[in-house]
Amino acid sequence: MIKQYNEYSLLPHNTFGIEATAACFVDFSSVDEIREFLADGFDGESLVIGGGSNLLFVANFKGTVFHSSIMGIEVVDETDTHILLRVGSGVNWDELVAYTVEHGWYGLENLSAIPGEVGASAVQNVGAYGVEAGELIVNVEAITMNGGEYRIFNHDDCHFAYRDSVFKNEEKGKNIIAYVTYRLSKVPQFKLSYGNLKEKVDELGGESLANVRRAVCEIREAKLPSPSRVGSAGSFFMNPVVSKDFAAALKKEYPTMPQYVVDEGNVKISAGWLIEQCGWKKTPHPNVGVYEHQALVVVNRGNATGTDVLEFARAVVDSVKEMFGVTLHMEVNVIG
Ligand code: EPU
Repeated sequence: MIKQYNEYSLLPHNTFGIEATAACFVDFSSVDEIREFLADGFDGESLVIGGGSNLLFVANFKGTVFHSSIMGIEVVDETDTHILLRVGSGVNWDELVAYTVEHGWYGLENLSAIPGEVGASAVQNVGAYGVEAGELIVNVEAITMNGGEYRIFNHDDCHFAYRDSVFKNEEKGKNIIAYVTYRLSKVPQFKLSYGNLKEKVDELGGESLANVRRAVCEIREAKLPSPSRVGSAGSFFMNPVVSKDFAAALKKEYPTMPQYVVDEGNVKISAGWLIEQCGWKKTPHPNVGVYEHQALVVVNRGNATGTDVLEFARAVVDSVKEMFGVTLHMEVNVIG
């Protein structure tokens, strides 16, 4: 059943732990319900949220917040080597990953322990340890805000890129995601080349789905704050991509700077490293700071407001610009 609330607290819906309200909050659990709700069109400000793990509220939201509680994980096609798994947008991301690992389906295990829900993970193209969700997405089923029409975006229509998709660009604010279908492998295939993942998996007894999941969970646990204990939105900034020549000049001046080749002309630099070099891990700050084990994560140390976090983030951006001449862009979606 569709549920509607007015002046609704968003505190349980953002992992930063910021107090904010939505003028209206709509929670739906089926395609029919949301299509009917939007059938006459919807004007006014709207925001679709998942688990709220990538949002920063800097003011109360004056419009309508939509949340999908569409559940279900279903095998819709199968060959000798692959399965197609259709998943409701409201399914918790890590519950999906755990389910695929239990069933012996390969593909999502490196994306273990990422907070959030299935719908938002497609918008954001979540990625970790050498895998991006978009690589495994076959299609995304969506409902249009304007009229409640059913639409299907095939993989190529989604324009997946690093932390990016069509849903953050041309299609921004135009759709509500209902289902995401993934293509997973029934035959073993592991991606263990990122950082110390292989080493960790070997320590746990060697390559298996369960060991990869456990290794990723342990690495994340050591480096990233658990949203249930410390307010944060995971990586606050994206890793900046710069030209090969500029990266080479930086490397000459700072030989230990971690860099990763993106393509022929571009190189990705670790924002966490840049922020750490600017001294932010050691800068005392009463209510906002960077996480002690990963400077890319901005944490709410207690009673920070959204504005406190944003001001802090701007100071971080300015310092990195001044020291390295590199502009950091926020990964977090600032609302208000
Ligand atoms: N580093 C530092 N200091 C720091 C943080 C990082 O020196 O404070 C260095 C590390 O030593 C390493 C390099 O920077 O050499 C990269 O660090 P890490 O492996 O932790 O990854 P990241 O690039 O900082 C990205 C994602 C994470 C994802 C990890 C692992 C982005 C914006 N972030 O972080 O995603 O878990 O890779 O794949 O791309 C998230 O999006 O919320 C998130 C946590």
